Amino acid sequence: MEVIIKANPELASQLAAQIIAHTIEKKPNTVLGLATGATPLSLYQELINLHKNNGLDFSRVHTFNLDEYVGVAPNHPASYHFFMEKNLFSNVNIPNTQRHIPDGMACNIPQHCIDYENRIRQVGGIDIQILGIGSDGHIGFNEPSSSLASRTRIKTLAGATLEDNKKYFHDLQTPPRHAITMGIGTIMEAKDILLLAFGSKKAQIVSEMVEGPISAMVPASVLQMHPSAKIILDEESAALLKRRDYYNDVYRHKPAWQKFE
Ligand code: PGA
Repeated sequence: MEVIIKANPELASQLAAQIIAHTIEKKPNTVLGLATGATPLSLYQELINLHKNNGLDFSRVHTFNLDEYVGVAPNHPASYHFFMEKNLFSNVNIPNTQRHIPDGMACNIPQHCIDYENRIRQVGGIDIQILGIGSDGHIGFNEPSSSLASRTRIKTLAGATLEDNKKYFHDLQTPPRHAITMGIGTIMEAKDILLLAFGSKKAQIVSEMVEGPISAMVPASVLQMHPSAKIILDEESAALLKRRDYYNDVYRHKPAWQKFE
């Protein structure tokens, strides 16, 4: 686990975008695992800027989103289909057929989940998985107590997540209680992982993820077992880390060839 602390979310997002751009330049058919939520918004804006101003070419890139709400139509403004279209897809050149998001309206959800995993395998697996972290430690919608070996499946959303999401579903009488999510085992198979977390509200869970024990009660803590996970933070989300001086030291003394700045 490599912990990188930047002064603010903008600089952190720029670094994540540079890492992704560098990978796409080396491997034009990169397979990206994508996340939604407030955290990756500035990363997506950076990628759009790199596409528009620096010619970053997504034409051979494949994408797989982590999750989608069950029973929420793709044209609902709070669906992750809508989010991705608005915040990334409409502004870069990833062909439609190469973008994948779980279908929250699927009739046969178990079969859909198997097919989703198979599609990831068919394109050679995920090269870089982008993650946020929920205030309860979830990654994707793998809520606390999720199996650390889980695969893509339906999950019931936890109370903290329902609370965090309430603001997006004020028009619906019953906000979604379930989501289809890649499993933790699925996420752990990505070759590289970039988890972003910003703001003081994430400080407690970030310290549990990085410096606490590995536990299904903090699903993101499983990333301690991943051979190539970067945790990219701003100062506020890093505030409770006990070994932040060491993480800063490691980053400062990285060989130049390992840096993307
Ligand atoms: P957020 O959500 O980026 O909106 O904080 C993160 C998550 O729930 O994974």
